[in-house]
Amino acid sequence: MSNENIQKTSVSRRQMLIGTGALATGVMLGQLGGLVKSAAAKGGSTEKWPWPYKKLDPRKTAEIAYNEWYRVFCGGAVINSVVQQLREKIGEPYTSFPADAFVFLEGGQVGWGTICGSPAGANIIANLIIGPRIAGAHEGHQIAADIMQFYSETALPTFKPASPRVSTKIITTTSDSPLCHISVGRWMKAAGYPLKSPERKDRCARVAASTAYRLVELLNAWHDGKYEAQSDFSCGREYGITGQYNCEDCHGDNVPEPPQKKA
Ligand code: HEC
Repeated sequence: MSNENIQKTSVSRRQMLIGTGALATGVMLGQLGGLVKSAAAKGGSTEKWPWPYKKLDPRKTAEIAYNEWYRVFCGGAVINSVVQQLREKIGEPYTSFPADAFVFLEGGQVGWGTICGSPAGANIIANLIIGPRIAGAHEGHQIAADIMQFYSETALPTFKPASPRVSTKIITTTSDSPLCHISVGRWMKAAGYPLKSPERKDRCARVAASTAYRLVELLNAWHDGKYEAQSDFSCGREYGITGQYNCEDCHGDNVPEPPQKKA
């Protein structure tokens, strides 16, 4: 084969791959959309969702989350704090739910400092129990937004365990962000303890417990038909970009404007 031919072949092969890839992605997205809609509309062919809920004690849930943090970290701890109790109160499908799989939420997902595992875990549970916004049951989505705001705006941790593993006073800080990196960083700066210290670990265990406590309060209110949305912030609606409310926190005075809809 001449050089030219090899080049031609590889170019056309690459184009073909790109073409097929784009097509496959398009088809997949289409199918996914269809699946989610049908699952929401009639329980789906294989999925039964949302799942049943029985009221839980927030304090007991928070204690479980606190202790579970030392086994499966923040996301796994929040998820287990609810799932373990619902396994006892309800059984399936909770019995088969692989709660420990969510250990990867640790450190803002495998240590990358993105969303903190505590709100991520809480929001997985809220949506498992209440269901998707596309089904008209908007509260699952809404509780998730409430959790994001609670996590960002509250001086955390709010929960103190019955038998703390660390006797040092654990100070509270407000993260102004759902990001693990910012939340942990602001606490470490204020408290003066490094990442690997027992104090930082106990702080995060208590943050997981505080989030589980809040989650169960919201779920219980929803269960009783008394739930009222706490947060009405939509970054997309207000700013034209996904994000959190405090733009200046990262951008300083120079907040960029996203492109607006073309006239
Ligand atoms: C957690 C930090 C953080 C927050 C909070 C944040 N941003 Fe950003 N944003 C960034 C970073 C980092 C980039 C990438 C900047 C770059 O590439 O120069 C970016 C990029 C952008 C961009 C696209 C790139 C550009 O320069 O035009 C827009 C628009 C933007 N942000 C708007 C906002 C608005 C509006 C808010 C508040 C509603 C906000 N951001 C909140 C960190 C943040």
